[in-house]
Amino acid sequence: MLIDNHGRKINYLRLAVTDRCNLRCFYCMPEHGIDWLSRTDLMSYEEMLRITTLLIDSGISKIRITGGEPFVRKDIMTFIAALSKLSNLNELTLTTNGVLTAPHIPELKKYGVKSVNLSIDTLDRERFYAITRRDELPAVMNTLQELLSQGIAVKLNAVVMDGKNTQDILPLVALTKDMPVSVRFIEEMPFNGSGNAITSFKWDYLKILETIKQSYPLINKLPDPPYSTSYNYQIPGHKGNIGIIAAYTRSFCGTCNRIRITPQGMLKTCLYDGGVLNVRDLIRSGNTNQQVITQITHAIHHRAKDGHEAEKNSAHESMAAIGG
Ligand code: 5AD
Ligand code: SF4
Repeated sequence: MLIDNHGRKINYLRLAVTDRCNLRCFYCMPEHGIDWLSRTDLMSYEEMLRITTLLIDSGISKIRITGGEPFVRKDIMTFIAALSKLSNLNELTLTTNGVLTAPHIPELKKYGVKSVNLSIDTLDRERFYAITRRDELPAVMNTLQELLSQGIAVKLNAVVMDGKNTQDILPLVALTKDMPVSVRFIEEMPFNGSGNAITSFKWDYLKILETIKQSYPLINKLPDPPYSTSYNYQIPGHKGNIGIIAAYTRSFCGTCNRIRITPQGMLKTCLYDGGVLNVRDLIRSGNTNQQVITQITHAIHHRAKDGHEAEKNSAHESMAAIGG
């Protein structure tokens, strides 16, 4: 079992399989993209499989595939198929922008993927273009419909950005009336690839909640599942529900059960740390499984207390290079 120096059990891995993406969400990367990793910098599927198997043997029971955009990496379905065969992996999920996802949904279902997080910051085609710099809203909506029709649970991730999409909060909430989806509003984090912090952070979790409450005063608080990063709500009579993620104000660190591995194999014990150990390099320099896991355990035993402490020693990268 992986237990950190603050007594938190680590059972959840977020694995970013690529830093590349076919969108250019402005809160994640600049218009011209970032300096993409070369193929040899990326962990190979073989290396990722070795690491995930080791981590599962040590107590990881849930894996989320992220990126960048997972579906822009070649042969991603072969990797997902291989992961799905690992025993003791109880939950395999992924986060996608939904542009290339639809054709893979029947196969995802076959491999036991029961829930998918879809990024969608607006339901308005022009604003979608303004935010992502690509005209792909119809493709994303098609993916949403396909996921639901295959019975895969969907969480919709919407980053709330001052002056960009706050008018979308209520339409996204309204979507939960007839659609059994969980719409999650995420505080904007300073990971836009420019190295700059957000100058005017206005939309914290409370302001998002207040905005929803003004139109839906009867909104109910739902119990938050253990390790949940969202505060969860439901509007009476609605099929879906709502989550608000205090990703920037960071009120959930006390129960954090997750680690991350970036596309170049950097282990992060917090989203806000700069990376604490490169597992790709450990593998490539010939370490045994035992040596690798000993080093990972050591890193987990030196984990920052929370995201504020972790942030002190790190620069802000692009979210696509971190794995959201
Ligand atoms: N702030 C908040 N959320 C972000 N995401 C990407 N960049 C940011 C950011 N700067 C979210 C996206 C996606 C998930 C992987 O991370 O909405 O759903
Ligand atoms: Fe791509 Fe996701 Fe970053 Fe948008 S937020 S550019 S979809 S990786």
